[in-house]
Amino acid sequence: MKRLVIVSNRVPVPTEGLRPGGLVVVLKDLLARQGGMWFGWNGVCHPDAAHLPPEIQESGGVEYATIGLTPAEHRNYYTGFSNSTLWPLMHSLPECIHFERRELASYWSVNERFCENLLPLLRPDDIIWIHDYHLLPLAALLRRHGVRQPIGFFLHTPFPAPDMLATAPDGGTFLRDLLKADLLGFQTADDTANFIFAASRKAGARVVDEETLVFEGHKVRVGTFPVEIAPQHFAATAAAAMDTEDLHRLSGSLAGRRLIFGVDRMDPTKGLDHRLAGYERLLETYPARQRHVTFLQIAAESRTDVASYQALRNRLEHQIGKLNAHCGQADWTPLRFLTRGSPRATVAGYMRLADIGYITPLRDGMNLVAKEFIAAQDPENPGVLVLSRLAGAAKQLDAALLVNPLDHDDMADALERALAMSLTERRERWQACWNAIANRTALGWGLSFLNILQATTDR
Ligand code: F6P
Repeated sequence: MKRLVIVSNRVPVPTEGLRPGGLVVVLKDLLARQGGMWFGWNGVCHPDAAHLPPEIQESGGVEYATIGLTPAEHRNYYTGFSNSTLWPLMHSLPECIHFERRELASYWSVNERFCENLLPLLRPDDIIWIHDYHLLPLAALLRRHGVRQPIGFFLHTPFPAPDMLATAPDGGTFLRDLLKADLLGFQTADDTANFIFAASRKAGARVVDEETLVFEGHKVRVGTFPVEIAPQHFAATAAAAMDTEDLHRLSGSLAGRRLIFGVDRMDPTKGLDHRLAGYERLLETYPARQRHVTFLQIAAESRTDVASYQALRNRLEHQIGKLNAHCGQADWTPLRFLTRGSPRATVAGYMRLADIGYITPLRDGMNLVAKEFIAAQDPENPGVLVLSRLAGAAKQLDAALLVNPLDHDDMADALERALAMSLTERRERWQACWNAIANRTALGWGLSFLNILQATTDR
């Protein structure tokens, strides 16, 4: 059997405990079952990192091979080109894009360093799966060094409309580099279509059919693979969490008020400022709701060196204070906003307790929180999901109340509709959403990608 080699920017080194990022959550089950190697950055910055060999650790049948970044690489490759240029570009947020040529140069050289350090660890029977926007050139670099093993690439973010790519320095090069992989996977059919269009228009790939491209004589399979969660497991975690101290405390503190709940990284793509404005509009437009609802938003700090994230934090601090000062009353604080992350099981319990899951990213590759909210509900008395129509998850969860994440009235009306919804309608909508996710798993997602990658290259 072939050995699976996962390559991603961030690797959850076992001794550090798992970070709760979406990519990590979906890949850990796959590697735990298949065994193999996970290669990438260990999360550490060190001035000598560029000269140190990979550190190898083994845990639970998985080999973790990791390298550090130098402070300059962290600044230029990670904070800079990956998260200040590519991340907002992939999410079609041009106003957040910041670009410096030296950051692009560092992005190339860190990808080369990933390649050089990975090459000696590869075996002839490996199957290589590269993840995400940090590593767009890596498949081409590996090929240039003679790697013939099957290479797959999955993009966890959206793939933007081709015009957005014009704002990417070297956009055409990235497309040509990606086309050196054997299988390219995207979250939604729209992302796949955007990529095919861009690859044919800007990189000169020939479109054979809707899932096959030919570039420089090499056949590339392209497909849509929506990332999934482990729904039954998450449902059990949420149910078990209800009888814990954390949940009793939250429930007691609500004093019978209805709970609106959101959880995200503090990231400009998540639409947090508009989300708060939508809630404020609910309280203004439907004043009878005042004193009877509480909005709990967890926004765990993330990528704190990126300027647009710092600006968001400043804006939110102002907005939170203003909202509570204007709308609050002596015995009622309308908004509770936490920047510390909470344990996954506790969050699952908060979701189950909530009357409304309020998840309104400006754009999102998938948004697993939306799927987790559905899985966490009590089927007899489910809460309502208010979801941005621009999250990849909205394609599957179309029985949720879908909103425009920029339209504060739309969000306020959806919150009101959710608060007033009959039990029968809540059950129907929840059941339709549950049916969309219940028979899929994160593991199944990974295996289906790998099976197609294998079949593509066997041919
Ligand atoms: O695709 C985006 C992503 O990699 C997610 O999977 C994850 O939640 C997040 O970014 C983690 O970001 P970072 O590694 O920058 O902390």
